Amino acid sequence: MLPLNLGEYEEAARQKLPANIFDFIAGGAAEELTLARNRAAWDAVQIVPRVLVDVTTVDPSVTVLGRRWPFPVALAPVALHRLAHADGEAAVARAAAATGTLMVLSTMASTPIEEVAAAANGPKWFQLYCYTDKAVTERLVKRAESVGYEALCLTADVPRLGRRERDLRHKPDFPADVVPANFLGEVDLGSLRGGEVGTALAALTTSLLCPSVTWDDVDWLRSITSMPLVIKGILSADDALLAAEHGASAVVVSNHGGRQLDSVPAGAEVLPEIAEVVGDRLELLVDGGVRRGTDVLKALALGAKAVLIGRPYIYGLAAGGEAGVGRVLELLGLETELAMGLAGVTATSQISRSLLRLR
Ligand SMILES: Cc1cc2nc3c(=O)[nH]c(=O)nc-3n(C[C@H](O)[C@H](O)[C@H](O)COP(=O)(O)O)c2cc1C
Repeated sequence: MLPLNLGEYEEAARQKLPANIFDFIAGGAAEELTLARNRAAWDAVQIVPRVLVDVTTVDPSVTVLGRRWPFPVALAPVALHRLAHADGEAAVARAAAATGTLMVLSTMASTPIEEVAAAANGPKWFQLYCYTDKAVTERLVKRAESVGYEALCLTADVPRLGRRERDLRHKPDFPADVVPANFLGEVDLGSLRGGEVGTALAALTTSLLCPSVTWDDVDWLRSITSMPLVIKGILSADDALLAAEHGASAVVVSNHGGRQLDSVPAGAEVLPEIAEVVGDRLELLVDGGVRRGTDVLKALALGAKAVLIGRPYIYGLAAGGEAGVGRVLELLGLETELAMGLAGVTATSQISRSLLRLR
């Protein structure tokens, strides 16, 4: 039976994938308190609809960094799509392009930057981690810029890798043909082949990521690219302000899907205070636990321009390849449009805090 919602896609993926790969995707760090909180925080927000509004036509589109999105949802950067399905990032790029949805390609993708760009010409951003070797970082940025990625999304919440105990327990198989493809020719990936995804990825991350990255590196990044800069992994208003001071155009309020520091708040919880402090200095995006159109509506009412989804589209990919990703996007788009209509708003510009009752 075709899944009816994103939760059912998670179940379909659970049936399809080996348990250790499913857990690599589904899991969070340590006690998984933040992972659970990401869902609970959206559920705790109530929508108070307005009635007797003409909702014959509802337009869920938004404009982010000057580009119109058909509805306020983008695909978050997720490592190694080919663990979920052989068609990997190329299938995701095609599904995203078919609906005009922005895809943020992970540095840790299992398909190279250029191949994903060639797979479909929909809008794309490139997600970056800074590496100890600045030349590696610079080459990745230039490659993305030269093939048309429209923004650089620096992930700031992985100075070191969170401890994901499901992976330590399972030691998931790492198929020989699934590698962080952007590093082919850059670093020796030999140690990863035939290894264990959790521990091998942790080893790669530890060896490549630079734990001493600071705001100075943000300035350096801005000096080597003309792509607008987005900083992902912001949870404090002070850091959001610093991001604005250092020239970021947008930030993603995010806790990395509960995979980094455990016990941090959900994006939904800190978004309002960040929105209040930054005003219109930055565009705000949020991710973590978004599974329903009503969550999208709540995110916009709390001050976000749009949301990102991570695991749900990977579950769509696992369950049905490109068509599965397309269906996940279609469902979330339909649910968002319906939530707006039932709440009595006909355009995203009309969505405000007054639609919410916060407990
Ligand atoms: C399997 C997996 C891999 C991820 N890989 C990356 C990554 O390479 N870069 C990054 O910035 N975020 C990564 N993330 C975090 C997502 O971009 C996003 O913040 C998170 O998944 C949002 O929460 P959600 O999965 O509940 O929608 C990953 C998340 C998952 C589940």
